[in-house]
Amino acid sequence: MTDPGRTHDPQLLALDVNGVRHEVITESRRTLVDVLRHDLHLTGTHVGCEHGICGACTVLVDGRPARACLMFAAQAEGAEIRTVESLSGDGGLTDLQEAFREHHGLQCGFCTPGFLMLAEGFLAERPEATKEEIRDVVAANLCRCTGYQTIVEAVDACATARRTACAQGRKEATGCN
Ligand code: FES
Ligand code: FES
Repeated sequence: MTDPGRTHDPQLLALDVNGVRHEVITESRRTLVDVLRHDLHLTGTHVGCEHGICGACTVLVDGRPARACLMFAAQAEGAEIRTVESLSGDGGLTDLQEAFREHHGLQCGFCTPGFLMLAEGFLAERPEATKEEIRDVVAANLCRCTGYQTIVEAVDACATARRTACAQGRKEATGCN
């Protein structure tokens, strides 16, 4: 007799990750973070708690931060996924990454990809964010090294620099209203 829960495994998934379409044959029970790391070799996305608490696995799904350990890879079909590898595609650091470096927003760095993607999604949606709003948002992810002050300073510095660039109409300005 056929087990109805297994009739579709393994299945072919088409995933749009960092602007590239990937086809993966995998079981429907596998999480997005496992497929990103083990099948697509995008190991910048980290795995901590595996149950939605730490945020180390944060990626962008259609522009919004999401816990990749809480999603099945199959749920990501048809969505645009961005991982931390998308930030510096040309090999240099983005303004957000530079701000983390300048403000010492990391020590061991394990949590950093998750914080970067959390901040990237948040600032894209809310470029006018205040420091208090930034503080609230970064509290969603866990860092055991830095304390949060330097992370807040980094995200705030990036947001401020972007707003200044927009106000001055500079060509590198991003996310201007
Ligand atoms: S590994 Fe996903 S939230 Fe911790
Ligand atoms: S820098 Fe080590 S956990 Fe955040």
